[in-house]
Amino acid sequence: MFRSSKPEDLNSILLLNREFFLYTIDRNFDPELKRNKALYKKVRTDLKNRVLHPRKNNQTPVFVVEKNNRIIGYATGWILKNKSGKTITNAVLENIFITVAYRKGGPKYVRGTGAKLLNKFRGACRKNKSHKINVDYYTTDSDAENFYLSKSAQFSISKEKARDPNKTRLEFIIKYRS
Ligand SMILES: CC(C)(COP(=O)(O)OP(=O)(O)OC[C@H]1O[C@@H](n2cnc3c(N)ncnc32)[C@H](O)[C@@H]1OP(=O)(O)O)[C@@H](O)C(=O)NCCC(=O)NCCS
Repeated sequence: MFRSSKPEDLNSILLLNREFFLYTIDRNFDPELKRNKALYKKVRTDLKNRVLHPRKNNQTPVFVVEKNNRIIGYATGWILKNKSGKTITNAVLENIFITVAYRKGGPKYVRGTGAKLLNKFRGACRKNKSHKINVDYYTTDSDAENFYLSKSAQFSISKEKARDPNKTRLEFIIKYRS
């Protein structure tokens, strides 16, 4: 089941976020990351606020995927608004993560789980009339790149350098019927 997060999902989401952080450190995409405790703390505080106060933070959706009453993945990011509350055509996908047993290569993998979660995020962007989604990933993370580029049927994608020199930025254009 794919749905928006509820406050009672917080612990499961924070556990997945920790698993994601350890996964990234393990793969050594960025040797500095291990030392960057402040960034890790900030990401967790933001995530907590989004899950516990979804109304206040409705421009920052958190979506989860649930299997047998267990949260096995989440996706989150921002839909950027200006001061008067209007969407500024842009959104950022910050994290998308499926726990190891259920992701590609895992014993319980069902093809398309991550893709459906990404689609949920895209749905929230469409609802808010956002025209594009930016996502940054580590340039050496070919798994992430393969995943994002496999979505090319649904998005028109352009690729550029991210602000972080270790990362590549993708821009997914969301199409609207005129
Ligand atoms: C990336 C991730 C969310 C994908 O979810 P998933 O359920 O495993 O993958 P899906 O079944 O939805 O994959 C969709 C497409 O991406 C491809 N893909 C997914 N993971 C891949 C991998 N590790 N290597 C190569 N291709 C991959 C799939 O083959 C599939 O392509 P297809 O439709 O042509 O067969 C998940 O594997 C994950 O959490 N990985 C670790 C964290 C991560 O890398 N997050 C993204 C970067 S920030």
